[in-house]
Amino acid sequence: MSHTAVHAGAYLHHLAFESSNPEQLANFYASVMDMTLTRASDTEWRCEGPKRRMVVVPGEDKKMHYAGLALRNPDGLEMMRARAEAEGVELLDSPSPYFKDGAFAVRDPNGQLICFGLAIEETPGLKGIQGPTQHLTYASTDVQAFVDFYAGKLGFQLTDKVLHEDGRMATAFTTSNHEHHTIACFYTPDRNGVDHHSYEAGDWVYIRDWCDHFAEHDVQLTWGPGRHGPGNNLFIFITDPDGNWIEVSAELEVIYDRETVNWPQHPRTLNKWGRAILRS
Ligand SMILES: [Fe+2]
Repeated sequence: MSHTAVHAGAYLHHLAFESSNPEQLANFYASVMDMTLTRASDTEWRCEGPKRRMVVVPGEDKKMHYAGLALRNPDGLEMMRARAEAEGVELLDSPSPYFKDGAFAVRDPNGQLICFGLAIEETPGLKGIQGPTQHLTYASTDVQAFVDFYAGKLGFQLTDKVLHEDGRMATAFTTSNHEHHTIACFYTPDRNGVDHHSYEAGDWVYIRDWCDHFAEHDVQLTWGPGRHGPGNNLFIFITDPDGNWIEVSAELEVIYDRETVNWPQHPRTLNKWGRAILRS
């Protein structure tokens, strides 16, 4: 089956979250995640830093409003649209302010809205610690449905699976470009939603800078530092005021031509260095 999303080079460009206290959440992302805050309207806050963006709207805590996956060029966008149409996926309007005309959206089996589009120009002169928006992970009671949709219908590449002893999938990692994962899914018995989202600092020294920056804002790490098995990335986690988990990662594996790797569901798979947070 063709890896359409990989050929199109889709990457996670921005996220939008709902919040019962959107102003507080937007202020958190602006200060703690080192972004510039803009009040776009009565009901929309936009945070923008170098290669990272977060939109906040009023609503339910910990609920993703949408995710924006950008394509490299118009051909990539048309490839994605044609693939979704051919697979019978309903095409919806994209609500994203960060995409040019011609963007579209799809709703996945977990109920999440994913927008595909061509990004508008980044605001010039943005400053901040290195860490582009990089990946999104779901909590879901049905990981197979996640794989069937993202790999089967949209042409993401299934890079790694984490399996329970009886063969049930605990986690599935999929990519839409050269990086190990763009969107992943954790089997979570009691919840459908977002598990966490991540910023890729690239290099360990930037994780140090993020930790010092968090300390200046009196934000403590909630997990890590550690190193994941799948993806081999170094990581730290913090938690925003709504309870969303935020990861800052470095050294994420670059994917060339390899088959899907199976990992055992074990604490050392999730964190080679120390404490693991197993979702199932
Ligand atoms: Fe992650």
